[in-house]
Amino acid sequence: MTETESVKNGATYFFTVATVTIAVFIAAVGMVFMNTDCDLLLWAADYIGSSPNVLAGQVVWITGASGGIGEALAYALGAAGCRLVLSARREHELLRVKQNCLDKVGMKSSDILVVPLDLLRMEMHPEAVSTVLTHFNQIDILVNNAGRSQRALWMKTSLEVDREVLELNTLGPVSLTKAVLPHMVKRQSGHIVVVSSIAGHLGTPGLGSYAASKHALHGFYDTLRLEVFDDNITVSLLCPGPVFSDALKHAFTHDKGQELGAEMNPTENRMQVDRCAYLMAVAIANKLNEAWMSNQPELSYVYFNQYMPTFAKWAAVHIGGKRLKKIKEGKTDLH
Ligand SMILES: NC(=O)c1ccc[n+]([C@@H]2O[C@H](COP(=O)([O-])OP(=O)(O)OC[C@H]3O[C@@H](n4cnc5c(N)ncnc54)[C@H](OP(=O)(O)O)[C@@H]3O)[C@@H](O)[C@H]2O)c1
Repeated sequence: MTETESVKNGATYFFTVATVTIAVFIAAVGMVFMNTDCDLLLWAADYIGSSPNVLAGQVVWITGASGGIGEALAYALGAAGCRLVLSARREHELLRVKQNCLDKVGMKSSDILVVPLDLLRMEMHPEAVSTVLTHFNQIDILVNNAGRSQRALWMKTSLEVDREVLELNTLGPVSLTKAVLPHMVKRQSGHIVVVSSIAGHLGTPGLGSYAASKHALHGFYDTLRLEVFDDNITVSLLCPGPVFSDALKHAFTHDKGQELGAEMNPTENRMQVDRCAYLMAVAIANKLNEAWMSNQPELSYVYFNQYMPTFAKWAAVHIGGKRLKKIKEGKTDLH
């Protein structure tokens, strides 16, 4: 073999090995991705990062803790050894969640404080903060989880509903965060968590005001993260896809003051609420700036939207357009 031939063979061998290695790597990442229910950073944090147990002893205030994701998060963080503040409007449901934390999670009564709170009564937020500080003397983590979904077409939705959704889902958390932040800045320590949604990244037919309220959270909190970084305060935006909860029962409709009153069908492609809460606890423990937890195909679509926005928006018009046509023809409902 001549020297030129041996150099050629060496190069061919190198390129073949490199191509196969890259192909195997892409296939492995693809297989992990298609079988996972969260973004790849959160997936890695679950395997090689901190477990929720690193949060033991921290005081975590969860809004919307009377049901659904907030309730499940209370159990997940309670099991990790956190002390809890449970807030929402329905005090009897908060007391039920507290009792479950005592009976099923094995927490101590003095480690759980129930603070009834209406997120819309913003003038009460500073007083609620004082109540928590009087009991625990500190707030390590605020989880802004309370919120309501929506099902109504954009053109049929009254401006009052748009305003109500934005007041509750966006300004409510912003108001409570503003009330908590001075304490965290004084301590030079804290973690603000916001439960957004994949609808905070995507437009979806029938969820116009809701999607807007979640998109707005990203504007508020992505900016806050930069402003409080020097104060050692972390800001995390958590974005679930469809999850089993009471969200459809309490969702806004097109008319002010109405609730949708629909039940979720157990056969729907939704994440179980405990799984969602566990993934959220991992994201909080690892102080991730943002995390997505969702079944496929929604998870892939959020990735497409993030990294190939032009293509994703083109596809959304065509796929979303078909769904919209069916909704208008009454062939499917808005759920
Ligand atoms: N389920 C999903 O598919 C899904 C997907 C993505 C994001 N999310 C988000 O996850 C969060 C929790 O929703 P969920 O699915 O668990 O719904 P859920 O079961 O209906 O729970 C909503 C919680 O928010 C509280 N809440 C509603 N209005 C309130 C107010 N004015 N003041 C204080 N608390 C209020 C409710 O408590 P009270 O009624 O007792 O006040 C309840 O605890 C929401 O931010 C939602 O947008 C849900």
